[in-house]
Amino acid sequence: MAFKIKLPKIELSPLLQVGFILKKVGQLLWETDKKSIFWIVVLNTLGGVLVFPGLFLDKIFIDTLINSAGKPVWLDGLKIIIIVVIARLFIGLVRNIILEINDLLDSRLGREFDMFMDRAFARKYLELDIPTIENPEFQDKFQKIKNQGGARARQLVTMFGDLPQYIGGIVSALAIFAYTQPLVLIISLLLVLPTIIIDSKYTRLSYEIDDKLRFPNRIWGMLNYYLVRAKSYLELRILGVGEYLVNKLADAQHEVFVARDNYQKSRTISGFWANLPETFFSHSLDIYFAFLALTQKITIGTAQIYVRATASFRNDLHSLMKTLVKFYENYLYVSDLIWFLELKPIDQELHKKVFPPKISKGIKFDHVWFKYSGSQNWIIQDVNFEIDPRDNIALIGENGTGKTTLMKLLAGFYTPDKGKITIDGVDVNHFINKSYWNNLAMMPQNFEAYDFSTRESIGYGDVSKINNLTVIKKYAKFVGLDTWVETLPLKYDNPISRFYEKGVDPSGGQWQKIGIARTLIKEAPIIILDEPTSNVDPQAEEDIFNQVLKLGKNKILIFISHRFSTVRRADRILLLEKGTITEQGSHDELMKRDGKYAHLFNLQAKSYQ
Ligand SMILES: Nc1ncnc2c1ncn2[C@@H]1O[C@H](COP(=O)(O)OP(=O)(O)OP(=O)(O)O)[C@@H](O)[C@H]1O
Ligand SMILES: [Mg+2]
Repeated sequence: MAFKIKLPKIELSPLLQVGFILKKVGQLLWETDKKSIFWIVVLNTLGGVLVFPGLFLDKIFIDTLINSAGKPVWLDGLKIIIIVVIARLFIGLVRNIILEINDLLDSRLGREFDMFMDRAFARKYLELDIPTIENPEFQDKFQKIKNQGGARARQLVTMFGDLPQYIGGIVSALAIFAYTQPLVLIISLLLVLPTIIIDSKYTRLSYEIDDKLRFPNRIWGMLNYYLVRAKSYLELRILGVGEYLVNKLADAQHEVFVARDNYQKSRTISGFWANLPETFFSHSLDIYFAFLALTQKITIGTAQIYVRATASFRNDLHSLMKTLVKFYENYLYVSDLIWFLELKPIDQELHKKVFPPKISKGIKFDHVWFKYSGSQNWIIQDVNFEIDPRDNIALIGENGTGKTTLMKLLAGFYTPDKGKITIDGVDVNHFINKSYWNNLAMMPQNFEAYDFSTRESIGYGDVSKINNLTVIKKYAKFVGLDTWVETLPLKYDNPISRFYEKGVDPSGGQWQKIGIARTLIKEAPIIILDEPTSNVDPQAEEDIFNQVLKLGKNKILIFISHRFSTVRRADRILLLEKGTITEQGSHDELMKRDGKYAHLFNLQAKSYQ
């Protein structure tokens, strides 16, 4: 199955998980912007290390002051102090510049990473198969990573960028203490342990809470979506259900809030206790260093290096731990993200054949059986029929009998469970997708609007023609859209959505005409129209079908419709009942047969008499 990729499990060592995230995020950032990530690491390390020359200069400053104050050598002391101050100024300036540049790079890389992920998401989504995309497990994970996208990306970048600074600081402090005060070093390290233990415990707990809150969180997300969507506005107002839904939102929010709040309180209290031994120890150390200085084992300057170096060491160590715990907390998000980015289409090695330049034998459905993954019943049952290269076919049947499914199978979006669909003898699932889809024009039942402009919305049918206004106009005329477009202030470039300036909302029928024009402009040898004119007025429907039939004369044309006035004009009509073809033939043949088709036709005809 396409979902399985190897990832360290939550139950495994936290260290492994942190390592995994560091590696993967590092790779992604490297791919996003190599130069920035290089400089962030270099500058941050430098920033961390530069604290320590400063400390040494302070030591020299204090020791010189003490040795020279009130003594005849004071002028020499002053000279040293001036040099020290200049050096400190220089280091301070360099640190400031480094921090500023680093901030700049950091926010820049965050934004770039965000942009990079949006594109990566879109490209990956385009590459995957329909069964993968429709898989509930996939959708669950995908929605989660998508919703958190930008904010998480930036957080990860900042965390990643800060790491070298802490590590640089810690390594420098280690260098100082390893020689002079190894015991201090060991105790400091030990005392950080309680914090680490508490942090990892609460991170685990946080996962568990998230899991328990999955349901209210999903309701929260859904209501957020419905309540403030322009598309739902009209319905919500007329139904008067808005306030009810806002209250439902409040309930879900409350449940999440209380659970999170309790967690946060408990974590804060435990964190305080875990930190206590270390706080006591660090203050005791100050007394110890003072003792060393008073007994003249070290100079006063050295004593203050120790005091400040321990403080800085503990700070860096804490920050490092906090960052690593945050990485650990991001484990689920990052592993889902990597899982998504590494998903591959199923059976890609099968798609090897190029679509023939000309269809000679036609399409054949050969004992095709199909059910959607997760569903119990056969949706398509033993369907057999053939379509000649110049046939036009009407596919009819009740709602939910599988007409759309049959067309999705033909388009190769799913693979039949039994039997096969071939074009000129080749299984459609064995064509290279791109080469097949270039030859297939399909208007889906729920086609997309793309409300930028009429020119673009039609041109998306064949992007190479998007700037060819002559061709766009030709197809707009075919579907009877031209007169309406000419009335718009910006004509073909007028936005077709009220959300833009000068934008207009096309009517339901006008949208369908755009959808048909988009399908026809592709000029493909196979045309599939799934209920293309259900919203179109009768005169326009008549005109459009005249054009479509003319265009489809030397092509394979399949249309699905519930209106018999158009259906009867097809060369051949297929009646689908519960996933099986029960009748087929021309209108006259089927009427003569006096079966289900004739019954349905008469039913509709009678209501017009
Ligand atoms: N992606 C899917 N996953 C699971 N079941 C599906 C999916 N799409 C459709 N179905 C189910 O398959 C059956 C056939 O659906 P299909 O869309 O093919 O019907 P149809 O004949 O086109 O109906 P209509 O005339 O309403 O468009 C329905 O029962 C539907 O619930
Ligand atoms: Mg349908």
